[in-house]
Amino acid sequence: MPLFNKGYAFGLKTPVVLDIGEAYTKLGFADEAEPRAIIPTTIEQVGGPVCYIFGRNNTALLGHDIGSDFEKSIKLFLEKIYFKYLQVNPNNQRVILCESLLNPTKVRETIAKVLFTKFDVPSVLFAPCHLLACFTVATSTALVLDCGHTESVVIPVVEGTPLLWAWQSAPLGGATIQDAIMHEIKEKGKIKSENENLLPVASRLCETVLEDIKVKACLVTEYHRAKQIQAAKTLELEKEKEATSLTDIQRPPDMIYPIDGRSRLFIPGPIREEAAEVLFEQDNEKMSLATLLLDSLCQCPIDARKALARNVLVTGGTSLLPGFKHRLLFEMKEIIKEEQRYEKLSECEFRVHQPPTKANLVAWLGASIFASLDTFEKRSITKEYFTQHNGRLPDWCVLDIKSPDKMPERPNTLPTGKKFPTSHVPSRKSTTTAHLDTHSKPSK
Ligand SMILES: Nc1ncnc2c1ncn2[C@@H]1O[C@H](COP(=O)(O)OP(=O)(O)OP(=O)(O)O)[C@@H](O)[C@H]1O
Ligand SMILES: [Mg+2]
Repeated sequence: MPLFNKGYAFGLKTPVVLDIGEAYTKLGFADEAEPRAIIPTTIEQVGGPVCYIFGRNNTALLGHDIGSDFEKSIKLFLEKIYFKYLQVNPNNQRVILCESLLNPTKVRETIAKVLFTKFDVPSVLFAPCHLLACFTVATSTALVLDCGHTESVVIPVVEGTPLLWAWQSAPLGGATIQDAIMHEIKEKGKIKSENENLLPVASRLCETVLEDIKVKACLVTEYHRAKQIQAAKTLELEKEKEATSLTDIQRPPDMIYPIDGRSRLFIPGPIREEAAEVLFEQDNEKMSLATLLLDSLCQCPIDARKALARNVLVTGGTSLLPGFKHRLLFEMKEIIKEEQRYEKLSECEFRVHQPPTKANLVAWLGASIFASLDTFEKRSITKEYFTQHNGRLPDWCVLDIKSPDKMPERPNTLPTGKKFPTSHVPSRKSTTTAHLDTHSKPSK
């Protein structure tokens, strides 16, 4: 517990701050500068493999039928958070959760249900992580990119209002780089055992090893170098030249990665430099991290574009790769010069913020700051409110959550008579905006 527990004498305890990501959960208390712990978002199954709660292969999340299995996983995971890591009584602490605005409604309603019914927490607040990130750099207008484990999401925030119609996302993140490393290492890597025998590579590389290789060995190369390597590869493929310039380019040194104390994996230098290129190479639809930001900016109101471009905020663990921000900035400037579709952005000057903490903790820190403002209490949802509304949470656009008639009714059927799916992802053309008061004063 924090040494100085604000409001302790009045029975109020410091709120718990959770950022439940697909790969890692950051957990701690409000008003603190760093989370108490960063743990994998997993639960241990008896006699089975470790299960990532929001992982691609969690069957409890497949389809629209998010049911009791998912509820059970969330309960087990929250038990671990409260009783193993935070060691506090949940019914004394309010909770703030950072969440992606693209999260299905059913997921957050299930998390809220478990928190209220199984842990009896006094109140819960789900806040959009892109908006929370702005609190850490004291700006109310920013073009926020979250490059996490499985996807990258861009949402522009203008005067404290996330513009949902301008969101962009792509399945580009840490997992994409790991897939690229796996693919390349299978082809070019070598594992040598103690007695110098060569072993098959694929069977020895689990996700943890791949992630470790990514964090310890990989980097994002410079724009011009990447283009040079790409051009040399194309020449080599087309066999236009016998001796290509690829061999002339100086590469990072090869790396030896000890696998289990008895065998060593040889990682060729080019893999270290090229694995992260998947984030920047434009795919068939001409999409990359840089175009996500530019496309989002193009959809913003003209008078907000310059301010947004001057306030690019990059969050998410994958952006911690060395050279990431520099490359992103350079790539955006070059694409604007090269591609006609971005001509209208030619007058924008791009600048990237340097948040006061590591990129993967930015949303958590924003939530920790937000939980000390007056607005936190006003916007929190109490158990009474939740039960009165049959376990439904209000939308972000509902500012006065205390008044029940402000809750828009969700119809059960579409005009055609078809049933709505139980989960809901905001539509790309949605005009709904999420708004939180970013100008409120710290609570006393
Ligand atoms: N220093 C680092 N260098 C490179 N990658 C890193 C570093 N630290 C963490 N990562 C990677 O960042 C990813 C996790 O980032 P983050 O915690 O922001 O994701 P998440 O919140 O769990 O996922 P998501 O936001 O997609 O739900 C992992 O893929 C991890 O390997
Ligand atoms: Mg995240």
